[in-house]
Amino acid sequence: MSDKKYILAIDQGTTSSRAIVFNRDGKSVAVAQREFPQHFPNSGWVEHDPEDLWDTVVETCREALSHVDIADIAAIGITNQRETTIVWDRKTGKPVYNAIVWQDRRTAALCRDLRNRDAGLEQKINAKSGLLIDPYFSATKIAWILDHVTGSRARAEQGDLAFGTVDSFLLWRLTGGKAHATDATNAARTNLYNIREDKWDAELCDIFRVPRQMLPEVKDCAADFGKTEKDLFGAEIPVYGIAGDQQAAAFGQCCFNPGEIKSTYGTGCFVILNTGDEAVTSQHRLLTTIGYRLNGKISYAMEGAIFVAGAAVQWLRDGLGIIKSAAETEGLAADIADNRGVYMVPAFTGLGAPYWDADARGAVFGLTRDTGPREFVRAALESVCYQTFDLFDAMAADGVAPKAVRVDGGMVANDWICQYLADILAIDVERPQITETTALGAACLAGLQAGLFSDLDEIRSRWKLDAKFSPKMAQPQRDHVLVGWRDAVARVRTGDE
Ligand code: G3P
Repeated sequence: MSDKKYILAIDQGTTSSRAIVFNRDGKSVAVAQREFPQHFPNSGWVEHDPEDLWDTVVETCREALSHVDIADIAAIGITNQRETTIVWDRKTGKPVYNAIVWQDRRTAALCRDLRNRDAGLEQKINAKSGLLIDPYFSATKIAWILDHVTGSRARAEQGDLAFGTVDSFLLWRLTGGKAHATDATNAARTNLYNIREDKWDAELCDIFRVPRQMLPEVKDCAADFGKTEKDLFGAEIPVYGIAGDQQAAAFGQCCFNPGEIKSTYGTGCFVILNTGDEAVTSQHRLLTTIGYRLNGKISYAMEGAIFVAGAAVQWLRDGLGIIKSAAETEGLAADIADNRGVYMVPAFTGLGAPYWDADARGAVFGLTRDTGPREFVRAALESVCYQTFDLFDAMAADGVAPKAVRVDGGMVANDWICQYLADILAIDVERPQITETTALGAACLAGLQAGLFSDLDEIRSRWKLDAKFSPKMAQPQRDHVLVGWRDAVARVRTGDE
C-alpha cells in the first residue's frame, strides 16, 4: 500500500478545466478551475483550441499542487469531455486542426449519407461499437479533419499523425510524447472500437475511412499510462487512471453493480446504467458502452445522452442575459406555481437520445404577453427534467425500471431541479455529499492503481447520501406537463433520424 496521501484528478470538461487534489477519504483538499473560449465558426460547429485545453490543464494542476507537498502525490487520474476529437503531428505534438467538440454537428450530412448508403449499416455499426451513426461520435470528426486539412490524410496513412480524444492528447503532452494511449471508455466513444471484442475494429475503420495507425493503444481505466515530464510540475508523477467523464462520474457514484444508475448534469446530461458483464442492446435508441475496464474485464453500461442541460442555463445567462448567475434559477423557478404553458426544447445542437435528430433546433413554445424571465428560467430547468424522463422512458421500454437514481454535477446543487426531477421520473433522486463525482471517479481509478484504495468495496464505503428527493407531484399534473413537453418536442423534430 502506498504511503502517499493524495491523488491529483484532472477534469478536462466542455467549458472548463479543473484540477482537484483528493485525499484518501475522497475529500478534495485543493481545487483550481479555468474556463476557456468556445469557438462557433459556423452554424452547428463547436471547436476548442487544443492549446487552451492544454494551458488550462497545466495552470490548474500547478495551482492545485501549490497547496500540497508534491512528494505526497501518489498519482494522476484524468477524466475528460468525451468524443471531442484532436489530430496532431507525432513529431511536433502540434494539432493540425482545432479540437472538434462532441456537440459539433458539421458531419450531419456525412452521417446521413452513411445511413442512406445501406439500410443495414447502422445496425452493423451498433452491433460492434454500441453506438449509432451520429455526428456526436469521433469517427466522422476524424474523417472530416483528414478530408479538409490539406495533406493530412496522406500523412495519417504514413503514420505521421496521431488521433486522440482529449485524455489521449493530454497524456501525450504530459508524458512529453512518450505515451499515445487511451482507456477503454474513451475508445468506446469513437465508433471505431468493437466493445464486444475489446479492440479497434478494422471494418469500422474502413467504413469511417480512418487509418488504423492513427489510433492510440487502449488500456484499462486503472493502469500505468506513463509519467509526467519532470519540469512540468517539479516531479515525475505517474498517470494511473483515465476514464471519460460520464463513466468516471458513474465510478465516483459507485455504480459498480448491475442495475445501479446515475445521471450527471453538466453541459449536457448523461444517464449511465451498469449492465455488468452483458452488453445490452437497446431497442429504443440508447447507447451500449463500456462503463469501466479493470484488470482486462469490462463492465458494460447502457447510456442516454442529452446534449444540453447546464448549457441551457448558460444560454439564459450569457446569451439572453436574463440572469446573472446559475444560482438565481432556483428562486426564479420556484417563484411561479407552474410553467404557465411555456416549454423550452433546448435542441441548440440537435437532439440526442432517444431522438438522434442532428438537424433539430431549439424552440420556446407557449409565449404570451406576460411571459418573462421567470417562465424562461422555469422552462429551461423543466426541460432538463423532461429530457431525463425521455431517457428513462426509453429504458423502461427496454425493460429497465430503476427505483432510484443517483445525481451529480453542478446543477444538482439546485434543490428545485432535484425535486422536479423526482416528480417527473416518479422515482427517488439521491444526491451524494460529494457531487464532484467525475473528478472523484478519476481519482478513485488512479488510487486503485496506486494502492491508495484496496478495492471497489473500500471506495463504496465512502459514498455518503446528502439528500433524497421523493416524488410528490400528483399523477394528473405529471401527465399534463408531459403532454405539453411531448407536443413541444414533436414540433422541433425534423424527421431525419
Ligand atoms: O459526451 C460528452 C460529455 O462527455 C461531456 O460532458 O460534463 O462536459 O457535459 P460535460
